[in-house]
Amino acid sequence: MSESDTGVAIEGENPEEITDIDPEEDSDVERAAREIPPGRPLRVDDLRMEFGGLTAVDGAGFAIEEGSLTGLIGPNGAGKSTTFDCITGVHRPTGGSVKLHNEEITGLQPYEIAARGLVRTFQITRELQEMTVLENMLLAPRGQQGESLWRAVLPGVRRSVQAQERELRERAWETLEFFEIDHLAEEYAGNLSGGQRKLLEMARALLTDPEVVLLDEPLAGVNPTLERKLLERIDELREQGYTFLLVEHDMDVIMENCERVIVMHQGRVLADDAPAAIRENEQVIDAYLGANV
Ligand SMILES: Nc1ncnc2c1ncn2[C@@H]1O[C@H](COP(=O)(O)OP(=O)(O)OP(=O)(O)O)[C@@H](O)[C@H]1O
Ligand SMILES: [Mg+2]
Repeated sequence: MSESDTGVAIEGENPEEITDIDPEEDSDVERAAREIPPGRPLRVDDLRMEFGGLTAVDGAGFAIEEGSLTGLIGPNGAGKSTTFDCITGVHRPTGGSVKLHNEEITGLQPYEIAARGLVRTFQITRELQEMTVLENMLLAPRGQQGESLWRAVLPGVRRSVQAQERELRERAWETLEFFEIDHLAEEYAGNLSGGQRKLLEMARALLTDPEVVLLDEPLAGVNPTLERKLLERIDELREQGYTFLLVEHDMDVIMENCERVIVMHQGRVLADDAPAAIRENEQVIDAYLGANV
């Protein structure tokens, strides 16, 4: 099928034009069915991502419950990271829609999406490794703060910008304390252990005070003590109302910590259920779990 057959949006179009649903043709019932149920801050519908001839995400759809820790699992190459990239604006999806609290965010820039309260963790790049932990925090993407910087030119509100900077520093320290890496504030990020670096990646993401956090293998290379610490922190944050979507290959971590598990296979959602049901799902066992439990 060509792109025009599928209604798939092409590069450069407006976010509203990406969905292939024509509101004119929908009945009230159909429209109501598409409304995000209360408590589902993130909804993905018929998401597609094509790289040349390769379809990495092939019509994936799911909705995430507020305050939940939902697992996203599946074999290598299933499209999990690409789905995260499409949700957070790293890639512009070739089709489908992503909604945050019923607001279309498909195709927006990552900083615009972060400003609306949805972030993913990013690996600390080589440049950031040459900076201290505190500098990494102060350089973290800041949601709306950049937009209000113009106010610095107005003398009357200059103080409020300074106050914002002070708040940012305070929040950076608080977040480092929360993850128990404040004693490493002056250490170069490149000198951290793999596990400490993962804590810093998460601390940076949380600095923007997001609502929904996407974690792509946050426990890879993390020792058991730090792994427990990270999972405890996620639990505390959930109690405060944060929502997490977690990609992880360790099935024990997924089954013990997630109340719901979405299984991706070849770019599609194969199953979306409670952990116990996922464990017994024949299709999931064949596609993935057979080799992983
Ligand atoms: N930027 C890209 N350009 C071309 N192909 C890509 C790109 N990113 C991902 N792919 C391809 O898309 C498919 C899905 O990859 P993706 O990284 O999303 O899988 P994954 O589920 O995260 O796998 P893993 O568990 O190994 O991390 C793979 O075939 C991958 O090679
Ligand atoms: Mg991946």
